[in-house]
Amino acid sequence: FAFSQVKLIRACAEAIAPASPTDHNSRMAGLIPRDFIDTLLTRVDIVDVIDGRVPLIKKGKDFMACCPFHDEKTPSFSVSQPKQFFYCFGCQERGNAIDFLMKHENRPFPEAVEELANLVGLEVPHDGSGPSAEQRAVTDALVDMVEKANAFYQDQLKNHPERNLATDYLKDRGLTGEIAKSFGLGFAPDAWDNLARKLGGNAQNNELLETAGLITERTSGGGYYDRLRGRVIFPIEDHRGRIVGFGGRVLGDGEPKYLNSPETPLFHKGSELYGLFRGRKAFDQSGRAIVVEGYMDVIALAQFGFEGAVATMGTATTKPHLERLFRLVSEVVFCFDGDRAGRKAAWKALDTSLPLLADGRQVSFLFLPDGEDPDSIVREGGAAGFRDRLDNATSLPDFLFDELATDIDLGRLDGRARYVEAARPFLNRLPRGVLRDLLVEQLAQLARTNVETLNRTLAGETQSLSPTAEASPRRARPRRDGERLEPLSQAISLALQEPAVTLQNLNYEQLAELDQPGVDVLLEIINTVADTPDIRQAALLERFRDHRYHARLEELATRNQILPEDGFESGYAGAIQKLLEVLRDEEISGLKQAISAGDATDGDRERLNTLLKQRINRY
Ligand code: UTP
Ligand code: MN
Repeated sequence: FAFSQVKLIRACAEAIAPASPTDHNSRMAGLIPRDFIDTLLTRVDIVDVIDGRVPLIKKGKDFMACCPFHDEKTPSFSVSQPKQFFYCFGCQERGNAIDFLMKHENRPFPEAVEELANLVGLEVPHDGSGPSAEQRAVTDALVDMVEKANAFYQDQLKNHPERNLATDYLKDRGLTGEIAKSFGLGFAPDAWDNLARKLGGNAQNNELLETAGLITERTSGGGYYDRLRGRVIFPIEDHRGRIVGFGGRVLGDGEPKYLNSPETPLFHKGSELYGLFRGRKAFDQSGRAIVVEGYMDVIALAQFGFEGAVATMGTATTKPHLERLFRLVSEVVFCFDGDRAGRKAAWKALDTSLPLLADGRQVSFLFLPDGEDPDSIVREGGAAGFRDRLDNATSLPDFLFDELATDIDLGRLDGRARYVEAARPFLNRLPRGVLRDLLVEQLAQLARTNVETLNRTLAGETQSLSPTAEASPRRARPRRDGERLEPLSQAISLALQEPAVTLQNLNYEQLAELDQPGVDVLLEIINTVADTPDIRQAALLERFRDHRYHARLEELATRNQILPEDGFESGYAGAIQKLLEVLRDEEISGLKQAISAGDATDGDRERLNTLLKQRINRY
């Protein structure tokens, strides 16, 4: 690729598809053209897609089955052909054909789209949407450069005159040559610019090295120096097995003890885990991943036969980390120090895990004695000792209930009430399912109340369209058929279920003046349907996949409206009317104020009369 403008590299590189799975979904959603998704959702029939995996039985207008997303004996999973949407009355899972594949098969968004496209013989357009040829060339060049740096560090560990500094250190730490080799360890000699001189030398290569976080431009005098010096080097593989960065440990004492590659277009600490790629075989065999804090812990565990260990790289465990792990295993064990800092970190990990705990997934915590880490423990106690600790790890539910009980006197009635209050937000963050039910049962026992009362306490719902998705997780929300919605939610709900209702000739211009969160969503729906009158619920909701109200919109789309089939149109018009009345009432009080303040014109008075008459005619 041409390098007339060197700075272009970084700009391009930043645009390369990112690493975190959630990031990935949303960005890719933006990259696959909307038109294509619309077409896809019209061509695909959700009934075929689901029926091939979960046999459906026609019941009235809809198709039904036992829900694949929770355990049940009588079918509450429904699929609507006209809406191209599925919904479970039991666990509230819902969505279009894309969502079904994502949830049922645990696939990222682009893969689900790809699969559906194959099914109906469409090709997902990639030109202009995925990374361009130039961007791909830049990524390839970066990956290539990082590989070269890796080869350089490894070569230094074998051949540099001072290599003994590193090999002695590693031997001291108990590593065999074999394990060092298997993790690809290297050595960065203590000199200013070994790497820069070896691999840099022209603008293009310097730029690549700098973008990869391996060299830094000198602040004065020009030239570059190496970022990692006098350290043992740990190459970091991403989830696809490409080397994307390095960790470097100082030899002996010194600060900082570890220096990691910075965030780069290739390396994202928030979603990559050290050891994940090489651990995959072990994950398959044991179904379990062990999360530790350090590079050395991963390596020591591997040396003693625990291949499925991964480490975060100087950050807390994030949701993308866990999403990645739960695609590979069903059980995650976190290892932490038993001290206060360790318990605090464990609590944070618990918090991150909760929303991901679908049935069948397990999280446990292994607390180590003060001052120990998995590296020291496994070297002292051997594989058997460590296995013993693993088997006795604290389950997430036990940890949760124990921690919550700190400082609470369960012997007192008001103490038990406090306990329930403290537990509520945590239980509500768990997805619906057997695990949640069991935890509710246990909490009921601990608080000496019954499950029904407790479930009522746990189910608090906000009514407006401005739900902070976090505060009221959708799955914890009980279904309320026929519950009265305020006009804006009502209008949106009807518009999603029967998009054609928005094609009525209503006073939409005025709507835009309404200062109410969510009005913009309604207007966007109205405009979308005006542009594509045939659009159905599934495609309409697809437009809002990354929207802050997405969960709420899905919920509104699956409301069981108590309107008769032909009442949708008038129900919708009525809701819009109510919304406009709010505006009119505001205008009326404004005019009244102006009149009593003595600065109203004749025009104002006339307008007030008209408005008041309109209002009277309503009743
Ligand atoms: P620890 O300080 O617990 O070190 O850091 P360790 O893994 O036991 O290291 P050894 O055994 O003394 O070699 C745990 C992890 O935190 C990150 C590194 O990823 C390290 O593996 N860390 C630590 C840093 O990023 N920078 C630091 O200065 C220290
Ligand atoms: Mn250590």
